[in-house]
Amino acid sequence: MSYDGAESKKITLSAYKADLGGFVGNTSIHPDLLEIARERLLGFKEEGRVRDFHVMRCGDDMELLMTHYKGCASADIEEMVMNVLSACATRSSELKLYGSLHNLLRGDFSGNVSGLGFGLAEMEFAERESEPVLVFMADKALSGLWNLPLYKIFADPFNTPGLVMEDIMMDGFSFSVFDRKTRETQVFKAPEQLYRLLALIGDSSRYQVSEVRRSRDGELAAVVSTERRQDKTAGSVQSHARGEDPVVLIRCQKGLPAVGEVLEAFTFPYLVEGWMRGAHIGPIMPVPFYEANPTRFDGPPRVISSGFQLSKGLLIGPHDMFDDPAFDQPRREASLVSGYMRRHGPFKPHRLIDQNQ
Ligand code: 13P
Ligand code: MG
Repeated sequence: MSYDGAESKKITLSAYKADLGGFVGNTSIHPDLLEIARERLLGFKEEGRVRDFHVMRCGDDMELLMTHYKGCASADIEEMVMNVLSACATRSSELKLYGSLHNLLRGDFSGNVSGLGFGLAEMEFAERESEPVLVFMADKALSGLWNLPLYKIFADPFNTPGLVMEDIMMDGFSFSVFDRKTRETQVFKAPEQLYRLLALIGDSSRYQVSEVRRSRDGELAAVVSTERRQDKTAGSVQSHARGEDPVVLIRCQKGLPAVGEVLEAFTFPYLVEGWMRGAHIGPIMPVPFYEANPTRFDGPPRVISSGFQLSKGLLIGPHDMFDDPAFDQPRREASLVSGYMRRHGPFKPHRLIDQNQ
């Protein structure tokens, strides 16, 4: 495929997230898996099947970030992803890494990603004159964890002064909210329906913000990954019926929240569901890439942020956004809160009991 005149086409940003087996236990990813993914994707890039790619990881989760002009839900992209994951799964099995997805792949692999259950966040948009995008990845956290920061970023002027300073943002943002119980999605406009929005998304176990758009013109601002996990290996708990370790893609600047306004929401190490066995509550810790290795009680939950400038579909980056001493204090606070929560042992509210209700 030729990319001449690529800038006039809409770009698609696809972020696939998968857990192909932890190293060691649920802590991190073996470097061989990252290497295999990079090699395969480089081959696809050279064949012109993807415009660009980047392989990332947070804890035991790998993310394949790709740009292309094939739109959302492209069968060709899905086929490439399955090819990459199968190769990683084979190596994971050889190394007997602590399993999840590779056990499914090893058995009856039919080549259809949607049945396998891992995360996918995709957005298609016309690339602006300058297109800064932040990709957030979490580990040891269940779906719904992005509700609080997305609210702060797109609806709270105390976090995002741009909401009251930039004309195009003054009509606010529209939040798509997915109800896990009814499987329905409702759209709420902030600030008009702010209290209705908060009434739901405050219950982040049940309601998940799935997408945010600028209200005035419908411009896509943020997309959260959805997960369709079928099963998990023995030893894990029922929490895995919930989507886990999700990803969110956020476009920034010029009519959208600034990069610093987006990051500001993570200065509060708020409590999330996940952590040990996916069955505890703990604070989320914003860390640089090299610190995304949750060990204490398999945690505490982590979030990393990779910053990219898109240039004609090329991913210029990543910049490690939380590699900043300004986040030392939230990290310390997360450590303190971890100790406090741990002292509850098997008691609520540290322990999640009915997390699938
Ligand atoms: P992951 O969801 O990151 O695989 O962790 C599962 C777990 O059981 C941690 O203790
Ligand atoms: Mg994980």
